Amino acid sequence: MAQEHTGRILIVESDPTLQSELEGHLSSIGHLVETAPDGFTALELLERSMPDVILVELDLEGMDGFEFLQQARALLPSASFIAMAESGSTDTAVKALECGADRLLTRPIRPDALVLVVERSLDKPLHARDAMDARAEAAASLPTTRLDHIVGAHPAMQRLFNRMLQAAKSRSTVLIQGETGTGKELVAKAVHEHSLRSEGPLVRLNCAALAESVLESELFGHEKGAFTGALTRRRGRFEQADGGTLFLDELSEMPLSVQVKLLRFLQERELERVGGNETVSVNVRVVAATNRDLRTLVDDGKFREDLYFRLKVVVLEVPPLRARPSDIPLLADHFLRLYAEENGKQVDGFTPRAREALVGYPWPGNVRELQHAIEQAVVLCEQDLISTEDLPIEPPDREAEPLSLLVPGVTLAEVERYTIMKTLEAVGGSPTRAAAILGISKRTIHYRLEEWGVAKRDSSTDEK
Ligand SMILES: Nc1ncnc2c1ncn2[C@@H]1O[C@H](COP(=O)(O)OP(=O)(O)OP(=O)(O)O)[C@@H](O)[C@H]1O
Ligand SMILES: [Mg+2]
Repeated sequence: MAQEHTGRILIVESDPTLQSELEGHLSSIGHLVETAPDGFTALELLERSMPDVILVELDLEGMDGFEFLQQARALLPSASFIAMAESGSTDTAVKALECGADRLLTRPIRPDALVLVVERSLDKPLHARDAMDARAEAAASLPTTRLDHIVGAHPAMQRLFNRMLQAAKSRSTVLIQGETGTGKELVAKAVHEHSLRSEGPLVRLNCAALAESVLESELFGHEKGAFTGALTRRRGRFEQADGGTLFLDELSEMPLSVQVKLLRFLQERELERVGGNETVSVNVRVVAATNRDLRTLVDDGKFREDLYFRLKVVVLEVPPLRARPSDIPLLADHFLRLYAEENGKQVDGFTPRAREALVGYPWPGNVRELQHAIEQAVVLCEQDLISTEDLPIEPPDREAEPLSLLVPGVTLAEVERYTIMKTLEAVGGSPTRAAAILGISKRTIHYRLEEWGVAKRDSSTDEK
C-alpha cells in the first residue's frame, strides 16, 4: 500500500548535477522519483510508470521542453506538469503554460519551494477532475445540443466539441480515433471548418481504397514518365490541399513505405513527387482518422512508431454511442425528422417502448447503425409513431448478461467494478480507451484492477 503523500515523480533534466539535487530533495521526503535526461526517454518512461507529477526543464536537447509538454500532456492528461523556467523569462513561462504546464518553478529552485509545489501538484488529480466536470457542466448547460452537423449533448461529446475547437485553431496535426460509425468524418470536417484555413480546400483520401503504388502517387503526385502510364506531371492530394486541410481517412491502412513519406512531410513540410527530385513545399494541415488502435499496430510492426508519436500529440477520441446513451433519443429524433421529410411521410415520433429499446440497444455500429435503423423504420412505419416492430433491432437479452446489478441491493463498489469491467470488455481491454469513456484516469483503472487482483500493475498488459 502506498504511503500517504508519496507520489510518483518524474524529473526531466539534462544537467546531471541539477537532476541529482532535485531527486535527492524529493526522495528524501518519501517520493518515488525517476529521472530522464531528455524528452524521448521521458516519454517512454511516462507510458510505463505513469507518474503523478512531472518536472521538466524547458531547454532540453532534441525534443525541447515545450514539445515534450504537449506530447506528454496528451499521453497523461491527469498528471501535473511543472515547468522549470529561468527567472525573468516571461515569454518562456507563458509558452510553457500554453503548452500544458500546470505550474512553474523559477531557477534557482529553493528546496522548500520545490517541496511545496510538488505537494500541491500531488493534490491536482482531484482538482483536475473537478475542473473537467465543471467545464463539462458549463458546456452541457449551453443551449446547443449540436456543433455543425454533429448532434451531441452528452458531457463526453461536449468535451469533444471543446477539444475539437481548440485543436482546430492550432496548427498541429490531428488524429481522430473512434469505433466505426462514431462520426469521425464529421469531426474531421468540423476541424477544417473551424480552423483558420477554412477558406482553403478540404481534400479527403481514403488510405484503404487504393493499392500501395497508386496511393503514393495519389498523395504526392508524380512527374511525367515516373512510371508506365504517367504521361503528364500530376499534382497529388497534398498539393491540391495547399492552403487547406488534407483528411487521411483509415490511416491504419497506409502501407509502411508511404508512412515514411508522410512522416517526412510532417517533419519538414516538404515532399517530392514520385519519379522527381524537385522538392515541393506545401502549406497543408493533416487530419487523420482511424478506427483501429494504432498502438497495437505499432506493436505488431504494421505502423511506424515514430509516426505514431508524431500523430498522437493532438488526439480527438470520439466516444462510442453506448458510452453516451442520453444522445440516443436526440439522434433518433434528428434522423426521424430527416427521413420523414425525405420520404414525405408524416411520422411524429416513437412509442415509449420503442424509445426504451433504442436506448437499451448497444449499437455496435454506433451512429451509422442507428441512422440506418431509423431510416428503415421511417420507411416501414404505417402509424404516426414508430413502434418496436418497425425497428430492426433485437431487444437486449437480459438472461445472457452474466453480471447483473440489483438496485437496491448492490454496493457502490460493486457498481464501480461492474462498470469498469464492462467498459474494458467493450473496448477490447484497452485501459486508455476505457478511461476516456469513464472520465477517469488510466491510473485509476490500473489501481482498481490491481486491488481486485485482476491484473498485475504491469504496463505490458496495457493496450492489448
Ligand atoms: N453525432 C452525430 N450527429 C449526427 N450524425 C452523425 C453523428 N455521428 C455520426 N453521424 C452520421 O453517422 C454516419 C457515420 O458517421 P461517419 O462516417 O463520420 O463515421 P466514421 O467514424 O467515419 O466511421 P468509419 O470508421 O466506419 O469510417 C454518417 O452518416 C454521419 O453523418
Ligand atoms: Mg469514416
